[in-house]
Amino acid sequence: MGRVARVFITRSFAFDALDRLRAEHEVDIWDHDTPPPPQALRERAQQADALLTMITERVDAELFDAAPSVKAVANLAVGTDNIDLEEAARRGIKVGNTPGVLTDATADIAFALLLGIARRLSEGEREVRKGRWAPWHPTHMVGGDLAGATLGIVGWGRIGQAMARRGEGFGMEVIHSSRSSGIPLDELLERADYVSLHTPLTPETRHLMGAPQFKRMKRTAYLINTARGGVVDQAALREALVRGEIAGAGLDVTDPEPLPPDDPLLTAPNLLVMPHVGSATFRTRARMADMAVDNLLAALAGRDMPHPAS
Ligand code: DGY
Repeated sequence: MGRVARVFITRSFAFDALDRLRAEHEVDIWDHDTPPPPQALRERAQQADALLTMITERVDAELFDAAPSVKAVANLAVGTDNIDLEEAARRGIKVGNTPGVLTDATADIAFALLLGIARRLSEGEREVRKGRWAPWHPTHMVGGDLAGATLGIVGWGRIGQAMARRGEGFGMEVIHSSRSSGIPLDELLERADYVSLHTPLTPETRHLMGAPQFKRMKRTAYLINTARGGVVDQAALREALVRGEIAGAGLDVTDPEPLPPDDPLLTAPNLLVMPHVGSATFRTRARMADMAVDNLLAALAGRDMPHPAS
């Protein structure tokens, strides 16, 4: 394009990257903490040449139809399950994401959830704050061991491998299962003391973990999910927790997000839930913004995006 273009950004953020974008293009920002409703998204996108979107926006044929001027979309995420990539490709719309920079932050949250649910951190904290701190007892708040336990990684991409390194650092035996390497999922589920999910959400991985999978897991095993909520059948997870088919679950992602406070899942025992904060560190988010802006600047100058979503 090479001219001043108009970019619609679906949330305001104060990173240097925004100044770089503003220096070259006109920027329109959705200045609310919540995502633009679909109708508002369509209206604002209609006036834009490019979009900088979050995982909360559905970017699909309907949006492209409403906004034919949009030629590029930069998602502020590595995951692109909110975007119809095939439809974008069919229309020649460039789409970019932010791989690599959030690997460690996300693996940190996955490991924090693992430690937190195994050693009952939020339960213990609640006990202290509510004045229910029971006197020391040999079986008070006992939890799962890490050293010597088996960590089963499902999905062997950057984040899965970063999780594996953390597990090894804690003396765990690591096994993995992915489309192209490792052991079959069923075998992993039978052997692992901790099952950590690191697959993108695709039609193939939707509800990868359902009732039959939970039944295969050890009754003493824990599930960790920092991938996407849709990879887990949440009703089946609740049942597995209520029936004690697994020992606990630590989730950074749910379906839907935000999870309504009256969602039945939240009544399940031994559940630790975080509000999708895997990549939420200062440096990581700034780097994600840089990558998204690099993608837009390149596309708007008629070049290939440096970080195209594939
Ligand atoms: C991603 O990047 O896909 C995360 O889920 C959001 O940071």
